[in-house]
Amino acid sequence: MQIFIDTADELEVRHWSRYGVVDGVTTNPSLLLAQRWTRLQNGVVRLANAIHPRPLSVEVFADEDHEMLAQARTFAGWADNIVIKVPVIDGDGRPLLEVVHRLESEGVRVNCTACMSFGQAALAAKAGATYVSLLAGRIDDEGNDGSGVVGQTCSWLRDWGMPSRVIAGSIRAPRDVQRLAAAGVHVITVPPPILTKLVDHRYSRATSAQFTRDGQQAFGQVLIDV
Ligand code: E4P
Repeated sequence: MQIFIDTADELEVRHWSRYGVVDGVTTNPSLLLAQRWTRLQNGVVRLANAIHPRPLSVEVFADEDHEMLAQARTFAGWADNIVIKVPVIDGDGRPLLEVVHRLESEGVRVNCTACMSFGQAALAAKAGATYVSLLAGRIDDEGNDGSGVVGQTCSWLRDWGMPSRVIAGSIRAPRDVQRLAAAGVHVITVPPPILTKLVDHRYSRATSAQFTRDGQQAFGQVLIDV
């Protein structure tokens, strides 16, 4: 299983990359808005460099298919590790699968996002999306079972030899990571505050402090091999 970081904050990407635990980055327009960049290209290129050669997802935000295609081709030209996010449908329910299919046919890798059901994810995979993002937390918000949908989608992809990889998003708590991992998801994209919670544990702190204290009491502050 891979772990992506769900942020547009370059410092967070660099910070977590140093730990060696991050396999890619996902963004969305809401995360970009929070960065208050004056030039989109500059911000995206900095993020792409921070995670290179691992993938960075950047989402199109246009109303018409031809505008989305133009945006996608432009964004994809900014760095060779950029993956283009395309929502599975637009705000009116119009399928955007042709955009997904055309971009993949041109060699542009697509992350088909905003999927909330097995059916949407299955069609995104059939359209050729490299990644299919199922927003598990938002599925849960609707009273459905996000990890169940993710697990069924991954099983179906495996059973039929489909190459698309499922990214589980909308992660709200460490337990989401555990249940999605148990469901067999390929990738979980985790916001930085949840990564922080994943690594911390009060009993680990106490245990670490105990062993450090006892070692220093027994042997002093040994700084070189003795
Ligand atoms: C990831 O690709 C999604 O854009 C992100 O996880 C959505 O998270 P949210 O539902 O918390 O906004």
